[in-house]
Amino acid sequence: MRLTPYLLWSSRCAIYHLLPPSGYSNMAGLASHWSKSKSARLLISNGTRQLHILSKRHNVPEIVQNLAPAGLHVTCQNTRAFHPGITDDSFIFRQLLDYKSYTYTYLLADSTTNEAILIDPVIETVERDYRIIQELGLKLIAAVNTHVHADHVTGSGEMKRRVPSCKSMIAEVSKAKADLKLKAKDSIKFGQFELEVRSTPGHTNGCLSYVWHEKGMVFTGDALLIRGCGRTDFQEGSAAVLYDSVHTQIFSLPQHFKVFPAHDYTGQTMSTVGEEIKFNPRLRRSKSEFTDIMNNLKLPYPKQIDKALPANMVCGIYDDISTASSV
Ligand SMILES: [Fe+2]
Repeated sequence: MRLTPYLLWSSRCAIYHLLPPSGYSNMAGLASHWSKSKSARLLISNGTRQLHILSKRHNVPEIVQNLAPAGLHVTCQNTRAFHPGITDDSFIFRQLLDYKSYTYTYLLADSTTNEAILIDPVIETVERDYRIIQELGLKLIAAVNTHVHADHVTGSGEMKRRVPSCKSMIAEVSKAKADLKLKAKDSIKFGQFELEVRSTPGHTNGCLSYVWHEKGMVFTGDALLIRGCGRTDFQEGSAAVLYDSVHTQIFSLPQHFKVFPAHDYTGQTMSTVGEEIKFNPRLRRSKSEFTDIMNNLKLPYPKQIDKALPANMVCGIYDDISTASSV
C-alpha cells in the first residue's frame, strides 16, 4: 500500500494527513486495524468531527505504512514522545525548528518526574520553547549546547532568565561561559534518564554529541548531519579530526540508533547510524577522500559568525560580553 504522509507539528500534538491510496475505505476496517496495533490515545477525525479514539499504544511507522484512509486526521492526544520513529510514553520529545537558521532544538523530558532538558536552544525561539515547557508542566533543569555555534546565538542565557534554576552546559574545551562545563564520559541526568557525553571535535574543537543509550538516540550537533557534516574550515576545525570523531564515537553505536542533528537544510528530521554509514556521501568514504572533499568546499564566510561567536562565548547574554575573555 502506498501513501504520502504530510506531517504538521503543533506545540501539543502531531497531525498526520494521510492521502488516499486504495484500501481502508470505511472506518470500521480502519478502527479494527488500529485496535490491533500497539497504541497511545489517538483521535481520528474527518476534519470536522471526531470519529474514533483509540487508546492502545500506537506505532507511528506502522500507522504511516499501513493506514491510508481518505482525508483522515489522526491526532495524538497526549503530550508524550511523539515523533516519526519514536513510540514510547515514558518520555516527552519535541524536535523544534528555528526556521531562520534551520537549527533543531530538542526538548527531552521524563514523563514521570517532568524534569526536562533543552539541547541547542536558539535565542529567537526562547519564548516559544518556554511556552511549551510551561504548557507541558515541565521543570527545565538544563540548557545544553552541542558546541559554540557560528550561525545563531544560543538561547541558553535567555532561558536562564526565565528559569533561573536551569543550568547552562557546554564543552569545557570551548572556553565558553556556562554553569557546567562538560567533557567526554560525563552524563547529563534528567529524571530517570541520562545522556552520555561524547567528545566529537572536528567541526569545532569543543563539539559534543549526546547519546541516549536507553532510547537509542544520539544528538550529534554539527559533527554529523543527515547525509552531511559540519564544515571544518573555521573555529579550529579539522577534517581529519572530524572523520575520526564520527567513525569512532558515532558510527560505533548500534546501527539502529536514531541520529538527531543540530541542523537540516533539506527538510529531513532524523536519520539512523546505519543509514549514515551507508549513505553519507562524505563520511562513507576513506579518510583521505573525506579530507579532500572538506578542504575543497570553498564555502562562503558564515553570515552570522561575527555576531554569534562572541555572544555564544557568554551563553548568549550580550551584557556579559565584556567578561568573555575571563572564562
Ligand atoms: Fe556549528
